[in-house]
Formats: sequence, structure tokens, C-alpha cells
Amino acid sequence: ASIVITIDGPTASGKGTVAHRVAKHLGFQYLDSGALYRLTALMAIRTGVSLQDEAGIAALARTLPCQFQHGHVLLGGQDVTDAVRAEQIGVSASQIAVLPQVRQALVELQVSFRDGVGLVADGRDMGTVIFPDARLKVFLTASAEARASRRYKQLIEKGIAANMEDLVKDLTERDARDSSRATAPLKPAPDAIILDTSEMNAEQAVQQVLEWYAE
Ligand code: CDP
Repeated sequence: ASIVITIDGPTASGKGTVAHRVAKHLGFQYLDSGALYRLTALMAIRTGVSLQDEAGIAALARTLPCQFQHGHVLLGGQDVTDAVRAEQIGVSASQIAVLPQVRQALVELQVSFRDGVGLVADGRDMGTVIFPDARLKVFLTASAEARASRRYKQLIEKGIAANMEDLVKDLTERDARDSSRATAPLKPAPDAIILDTSEMNAEQAVQQVLEWYAE
């Protein structure tokens, strides 16, 4: 099996950016596992399946008609790149992510990204559940304030109104839900290295991960 690097951590910790850049540096594949939870939530909303219907959502997840093409995300052939990133879809994703059957339904799809030279996978349970044999496991964290101000900047850049107080509240609530669920809660794998990026920019975090990988 090919080499895997896992990058797990809470929302807005910079996992996505760091994982994507590390993959590019190494010429590895990239798996944004959160996108799969987001796509499943979006699909449920669009097809009118209740977010509490565990079996119904697991059925959607099992045959998720998604494609990843040059930074674009397609669902049923339709470009949903912006739609899946919406804050509300993130919240819906975290609601369906507590459902064990839904998590189970997405295992095979996640594992299938491991082909070719290597894979960088980012999410909540990449190092603990999906790729326990990963070569390098990183757990990215940052203070709630640092994460909220990053998210704030992203939203403002996109021309979306935002306020810090609401963002801190949203982050804290989502962290609590992700960390307290019974199945695959957000926590570092026993063999993960913790990287606190509160005082770091994305490029510094990328360099640190590449250094650990080279060791
Ligand atoms: O970008 P952000 O960190 O806000 O979210 P994401 O990584 O796209 O993930 C959205 C939601 O999916 C998270 O809040 C988690 O509840 C869930 N998720 C998960 O349970 N396990 C994963 N491996 C990835 C995401």
C-alpha cells in the first residue's frame, strides 16, 4: 500500500490548506474527507432526506455520485464547489457525521483515494480510523480566536458578511459536537504529532510537516 500522511484537526485549523500544499509538494493525491461529509449533507438536503434519517443518509453516502476535478467538486455532474463550502453545509455535515452508519458508508470511498504514489488525507479521523497505518500523522490545532479570525478573513475575502462573536460561537459548538460524539470523535491518534499553528502561517506549517516527513 502507498504512503499516507494524515492531517486531522478542528474546524478552521488550516488543515485543508496545509494538506493540499503538502500533497502538491510531494506529488501525492489529496483527500479532503470533510468534503465527502459536506457532499452527503448537500445531497440529503437537495433530495429531501431528513438529516436524522440515518439509514436514508447512509444509503446516499454509499453511492455518492461525486467527482473531484482540478479543484472543482461535482455532485451528480453539477459543479457544487461553492455550495459545499457554505457555512450551513458545514453545520449539516457535522450533524450527519455523528451517525455511525453514515461514517461506515464513507469508509470505502475514503480508502479508495489511496492509490498511486502517496496520499495526504485531511479530516477528523484520518489517523485514528481510516488510515491507522499512516507514515506520518499530524494533529493541527490553533486557538479558537486564531481559527475564528482566519475564517473571518476567508469570508470577508469572498464578500460574505461575518462577525467574530458568531464565528467563535459556531467554532466552539462544532468542536464540542465533533469531540463528544461516540463514533470516531475528534482527537489526536496516540502516535500523532501535535502542531499548534496559532502563531504560524500556512507556509510555516507546510514546511514543518515536510520536515517531519523527511525525518
Ligand atoms: O472545513 P471545516 O473544518 O469547517 O470542515 P470540514 O473538514 O469540511 O468537515 C465538515 C464536518 O464534517 C466536520 O465538522 C465534521 O463533523 C465532519 N467530518 C468528520 O466527521 N470526519 C471527517 N473525517 C471529516 C469531516
